[in-house]
Amino acid sequence: MKTTPYLSVENLSYRYPDGTLALRELSFELAEGDFVALIGQNGSGKTTASKCLNGLFKPTEGRVIVDGLDTRTTSITKMVVRVGYVFQNPDHQLFNSNVWDEIAYGPRNIQFSEEEVTERVEEAAKVVGLNASYFTEHPFFLPKGLRQRVAIASILALRPKVIIVDEPTTGQDVKQSLEIMDFLTYLHQERGHIIVIITHDMPIVSRYAKRIVLLGQGRKLADGPTSEVFAQPQILAETFVAPPQITQLAQATAELGFDPGTLRVNELLTQFEGLVA
Ligand SMILES: Nc1ncnc2c1ncn2[C@@H]1O[C@H](COP(=O)(O)OP(=O)(O)O)[C@@H](O)[C@H]1O
Ligand SMILES: [Mg+2]
Repeated sequence: MKTTPYLSVENLSYRYPDGTLALRELSFELAEGDFVALIGQNGSGKTTASKCLNGLFKPTEGRVIVDGLDTRTTSITKMVVRVGYVFQNPDHQLFNSNVWDEIAYGPRNIQFSEEEVTERVEEAAKVVGLNASYFTEHPFFLPKGLRQRVAIASILALRPKVIIVDEPTTGQDVKQSLEIMDFLTYLHQERGHIIVIITHDMPIVSRYAKRIVLLGQGRKLADGPTSEVFAQPQILAETFVAPPQITQLAQATAELGFDPGTLRVNELLTQFEGLVA
């Protein structure tokens, strides 16, 4: 049985005012339970697609339907409580002079009562693990990891079903990357959000994403479970994406019986044990 998607992109094309055709007849769906990595080389249309998903950009052709609403005719107020977009660089998103106002900005903007705003800010801060002692701090002077949490909290305060996070691990060390990804997994598993990450980090994709949507020059080149997409190196190569090394190793040794969709070292070891047994 096929569940109704929460969001559907139907033959979406997007042209910037200068004439650049950034998306070409793009179609895909997001449904309950999705944790998707949107991947593709620079300029392939990932950011443009995200801005179409949250209604910031209206389709040039085709349409985007979110929770039954067509983004072409739906107010941005109705969109931001359904699809949240966390900017690649938190500094492009944070502009208030203290953390509280930053997180409260969205809910205030859509004119929730001050009581409701307070409830939402406190909840969002708690979810991201931001102590109340930070509320009066200036976001700009916090370390990058905390600025990212404030950025995510400001989106969570709107309680969107879908959360799109643009390059969450870029410029972070391994420990910080795993922390942020584990946090997104918590939002997905425990709080029921549909998560979309935009990333160039294929080990992160193989470890966390259930599904890959691969873009190339504004078109969809592949869409499927992570291991299935990584098992198609010829399509990935077309857009200069290399699967994780462990997957490449399994593919290079596939004729010995390894599964070309292998994502993790322990899976490879289990297969190895099976082959030598
Ligand atoms: N504001 C803009 N005006 C014109 N073209 C743009 C603009 N922003 C992005 N583009 C172009 O649209 C295409 C897709 O860009 P983008 O969505 O940013 O890709 P990605 O996020 O995958 O790097 C690229 O060709 C890019 O140069
Ligand atoms: Mg981008």
